[in-house]
Amino acid sequence: MESEEAEGTIVKMMNNCDDRMSELKAFDDTKGGVKGLVDGGVTKIPTMFYHPLDKFPNSSSTEHSLIPVIDLEGVTKDPITRQQVVSRIREASETWGFFQVVNHGIPGSVLEEMKEGIKRFFEQDVEVKKEVYSRDNTKPFIYNSNFDLYSSSALNWRDTFGCQIVPLIGKPQDLPQVCRDILLEYGNNVMKLGITLFELLSESLNLHSNYLRDMELGCTDQISCAGHYYPPCPEPELTMGTTKHSDGAFLTVLLQDHIGGLQILHNDKWIDVHPVPETLVVNIGDLLQLLTNDRFKSVQHRVLANKNDSRVSIASFFGYNSLASSTKLVSPIKELLSEDNPPKFKETTIAEYAAYFRAKGLGNNPLQDFRI
Ligand code: OGA
Ligand code: NI
Repeated sequence: MESEEAEGTIVKMMNNCDDRMSELKAFDDTKGGVKGLVDGGVTKIPTMFYHPLDKFPNSSSTEHSLIPVIDLEGVTKDPITRQQVVSRIREASETWGFFQVVNHGIPGSVLEEMKEGIKRFFEQDVEVKKEVYSRDNTKPFIYNSNFDLYSSSALNWRDTFGCQIVPLIGKPQDLPQVCRDILLEYGNNVMKLGITLFELLSESLNLHSNYLRDMELGCTDQISCAGHYYPPCPEPELTMGTTKHSDGAFLTVLLQDHIGGLQILHNDKWIDVHPVPETLVVNIGDLLQLLTNDRFKSVQHRVLANKNDSRVSIASFFGYNSLASSTKLVSPIKELLSEDNPPKFKETTIAEYAAYFRAKGLGNNPLQDFRI
């Protein structure tokens, strides 16, 4: 290329870059999120939401039934049931990185009200929502669209609120009135379930029941949550509800509504996690893959955009401080290591990992950069 022509190309690229930046900024400044675009009547989605085609195919329709649904009934009372559940959780965590739980102890009415609460928050007047629109993670409650708006290469068709629900940062009044009570109630319920899950996960690694909870880094010390609202999308095939990614925390408990769209990548195929009433989806996060030296898998997943319905979900992330200030060290568990299984990951801290995860933006496999 002649140097003048090259210069012209670079100037054009910089202009495109400027255009994109001002488009992102303009969208951010509306504080109305994706829902604001939909309410404004968009029929074509802005190009900043365009995603490149994914190289992996969808699986045939029967494979979803393979994602284990594990019944927790009787797990605290009957040792034989417990053994069976422990071995199913082991298998699911090693192969799928995902499972669903039923009879998990959280009343159906709490799950329903949680979904309603999320809807109420996002569907309230935009002027009210604007007051809590922010990208400052040190605040007790924030709402925005695309936490990685300025670093991601393709935006997601969703809006999100985030807060630490256990223990609460700040006062209950910092949570929006329309979902305050249910967030607190849901959080306490999810913590109880999380304690059971971490006990079962410890046992499935042949460690003492309390091992993961009692570690200095405390997998059950806190829960941060992300409440998502996926508005209907006029051109769903051009974008994504959520980019493919793995979760950064130790463990995620996800409540999804009946709409569907969540998929996990398994053997290079996308498999639907079909909504089952009253179940919760559980998945291994990056930090648990790191702790278990690759034994448990933090698996990539995504959410498809859809044309007709709005969808809500809430992800509860265990052990991940939303302030990302924990300097507790994370490294592969010594008891799981041997001469044949040397550590595969460098030591890090929760704060360092969380900061790296955020900076890379969704979907960029941050865990790979911590391999020895
Ligand atoms: C997440 C996530 C899936 C969903 O919040 O990490 O993967 O169904 N959510 O919203
Ligand atoms: Ni996720």
